[in-house]
Amino acid sequence: MNRQSILVTREIFPEVLDKLRTHFSVEANQEDVAWSLEQICERAKGKAGLLTSGGERIDAGLLEQCPDLKIVANTAVGFNNFDLDAMTACGVLGTNAPDVLTETTADFGFALLMATARRIGESEQYIRAGKWSRGRIDFFAGSDVHGSTLGILGMGRIGQAIAKRGAHGFGMKVLYNNRSQLESHLEQACSASFVSKEKLLREADHLVLVLPYSAQAHHCIGEAELSLMKPTANLINIARGGVVDDAALAHALREKKIAAAGLDVFEGEPSVHPDLLAVPNIVLTPHIASATIRTRKAMAHLAADNLIGYLVQGKPLTPLNPQVLQRCSGND
Ligand code: DGY
Repeated sequence: MNRQSILVTREIFPEVLDKLRTHFSVEANQEDVAWSLEQICERAKGKAGLLTSGGERIDAGLLEQCPDLKIVANTAVGFNNFDLDAMTACGVLGTNAPDVLTETTADFGFALLMATARRIGESEQYIRAGKWSRGRIDFFAGSDVHGSTLGILGMGRIGQAIAKRGAHGFGMKVLYNNRSQLESHLEQACSASFVSKEKLLREADHLVLVLPYSAQAHHCIGEAELSLMKPTANLINIARGGVVDDAALAHALREKKIAAAGLDVFEGEPSVHPDLLAVPNIVLTPHIASATIRTRKAMAHLAADNLIGYLVQGKPLTPLNPQVLQRCSGND
């Protein structure tokens, strides 16, 4: 029997590759060569499925050249690399990797919040530079986390997990803004109150961004929003680059319009805006919020199980455009 072919665009855990190989003919990239979009497109021709990392743009141009493609499985919860409308129009299913990374990503959001509030990045660099002699009374003094006000923009699963850490672990008052207000039992579980975006910006001591990227969310934190924040406030972005106007943020940090920022994601990453690199009151990490071995394995297994679930059993686990499935079953 002819096996279906799939392409895995980035290096993946060997056990996940082995699992895929029991079902498919697999073209892998274990050397983790940085293929251009054109190279991915060339290799995707004739493939029934792609397993992507979340950084590869899947758009009408690629879909047009890959008429055999049935599914693209992202190893990420975010799927802003997908043109989902184009995929649906071409009958290509998209899947993501939700849930398995929620707690790990919330842990990291909180770690970045604490590192930012307590100036851990700056003070570590100070020691490494051999500058430590005597400290003044306000030596690397930051802001308190316990008992302060936590603001969350984007209250999905990860936002709620961060809220629980803040409310139950650190006695924080938790405010949030989201496209829609949570049902009251969910609000109660994380002791969070829904407020307008303006109130959130004005009142948060620590504002964490966890909303998905979309055209509407582009630069939803820019100069105007930053100017509403307290001069003592910290901004944490674990959502996506592009949600924040990085140039405006660097300016606000330089001018001390806000106290500090912790950023795991950047516009145009892996490049980082040079103005952000030049300000001291910032903690920078290279998009690693979900990066524990256990969680990254769970994400990779879920992406693989989506490919197997759909291409072999007709039942993907976490479909993003289920209209495609209905259309397929309607054709049976
Ligand atoms: C996600 O899953 O979307 C995280 O940002 C890791 O890419």
